[in-house]
Amino acid sequence: MLRARRAKQEDARFLFELRNEKAVREASLTTAPVLWDAHQMWFANCITSPMRFLYVLEEEGLSVGQVRFDVTSSTDQAEVSISISERFRGRGYGRQALLCAHGEFFAECPAIKQIHAQVKHGNQASLKMFEFAGYKLADASDPSVSRLLFDR
Ligand SMILES: CC(C)(COP(=O)(O)OP(=O)(O)OC[C@H]1O[C@@H](n2cnc3c(N)ncnc32)[C@H](O)[C@@H]1OP(=O)(O)O)[C@@H](O)C(=O)NCCC(=O)NCCS
Repeated sequence: MLRARRAKQEDARFLFELRNEKAVREASLTTAPVLWDAHQMWFANCITSPMRFLYVLEEEGLSVGQVRFDVTSSTDQAEVSISISERFRGRGYGRQALLCAHGEFFAECPAIKQIHAQVKHGNQASLKMFEFAGYKLADASDPSVSRLLFDR
């Protein structure tokens, strides 16, 4: 049974390693490896900012992946980012993780009306996962990135 919980300090190393996995870097807008010091600063901001909601997905005490929602300045919108550890990919965890994290996020932030996602061209697993969770293609005019939208 997968569950989403807010990230805490002890998750810093897991999230650092996940962020630097090859497929995660390739799927990100910034593809360069992240250094530990930079990660620590980013992570400290993530777990203290009132605009960021970072969840670790766990199954039987094992960390499987992460989902992060960044609330935008309009406050009823958010951007989502998700990654699943390599050894758990392709087994349905992404789909479950997104739904699970949505549940936690909407409970914490009931004012959110829309969630935006950006998927790089060729990332079929990600596209299918977002479509499964109810995201619709909002803009495909950029050949390198598809923009998707979830309406509550
Ligand atoms: C994208 C990601 C989160 C999906 O999680 P996952 O656990 O691997 O995906 P799931 O097993 O839940 O599968 C989701 C869908 O993708 C399909 N899929 C899984 N792996 C696939 C692959 N390598 N190629 C094509 N489709 C794939 C599944 O069949 C499923 O489709 P279906 O609903 O039609 O059956 C995960 O692969 C990942 O972390 N990738 C690297 C980081 C990344 O791309 N993040 C998203 C950035 S937008």
